[in-house]
Amino acid sequence: PPDIPLANVKAHLAQFQSIANANGGTRAHGRPGYLASANYVKGLLDAAGYTTTLQSFTYNGATGYNVIADWPGGNPDDILMVGAHLDSVTAGPGINDNGSGSAAILESALEVSRQALQPTKHLRFAWWGAEELGLRGSQFYINNLPAAERARIKGYLNFDMVGSPNAGYFIYDGDNSDGTGAGPGPAGSAALEQTLQSYFTSIGVPTRGTDFDGRSDYGPFIAVGIPAGGTFTGAEGIKSSAQAALWGGTAGQAFDVCYHRACDTTANINDTALDRNADAIAHAVWTIGTAVPPV
Ligand code: PHE
Ligand code: ZN
Ligand code: ZN
Ligand code: ZN
Ligand code: CA
Repeated sequence: PPDIPLANVKAHLAQFQSIANANGGTRAHGRPGYLASANYVKGLLDAAGYTTTLQSFTYNGATGYNVIADWPGGNPDDILMVGAHLDSVTAGPGINDNGSGSAAILESALEVSRQALQPTKHLRFAWWGAEELGLRGSQFYINNLPAAERARIKGYLNFDMVGSPNAGYFIYDGDNSDGTGAGPGPAGSAALEQTLQSYFTSIGVPTRGTDFDGRSDYGPFIAVGIPAGGTFTGAEGIKSSAQAALWGGTAGQAFDVCYHRACDTTANINDTALDRNADAIAHAVWTIGTAVPPV
């Protein structure tokens, strides 16, 4: 698997920040900064050879958009999807939440193109609208997916907040192996968790599970039985002293003090966390997407 260039990921974050600055400070659903973000992502994917769709939906009297990008080739009956929400809250530009996940999966998608990857699986990337209003874009996608098409999606990887300034290294606990919180999820979720886990093990970074409770766009997927996984560096939760001993950072402070605030800008990013998570995403896409025989 490739080493995703952090500078490329950060360049996308700078673009999201500029888009927010030019559009009233936000990239929220129904605001012009959202559509500008969607067009930015779509333009890069089109130029890279993806087949893209801007899927529109209506919520709260405003039009929302999902950007769906298919990499030509692979087994059409064996699809790996990778997604992130592209909308921010109205309070700010949403650079960690969720420019970080959006930029990280975008760079994996562009690396697929740069390498002219010929995966065994069919790869589909998605940038969801209106997550912040209740997972509206991802729910719309699942609701409007014919049953036969749904059955072809064998796994979904979700990335929401992967550059938190006081970062933790969390992996969705798809099998509820820690015995706390929600789950287990659909069979197959544990394998996705293990694939993400194996990357962090390879770089010597300890991880912990986080509740597989549907609090992001994987929720509508697991609700219809599609295995899912993902990583997370923390939101409003407070880093414990044990977590600070494990990962560094500041105990007694939120993982992201600017969560859902105007200060969620390009200054609100932990480069190390963003870099590790971008590489973990590529590791998972390459490991799962190119497996022979397919897994
Ligand atoms: N979905 C939450 C938000 O966008 C963040 C979150 C991601 C919370 C993953 C828990 C787990 O605000
Ligand atoms: Zn949020
Ligand atoms: Zn989010
Ligand atoms: Zn687990
Ligand atoms: Ca658990």
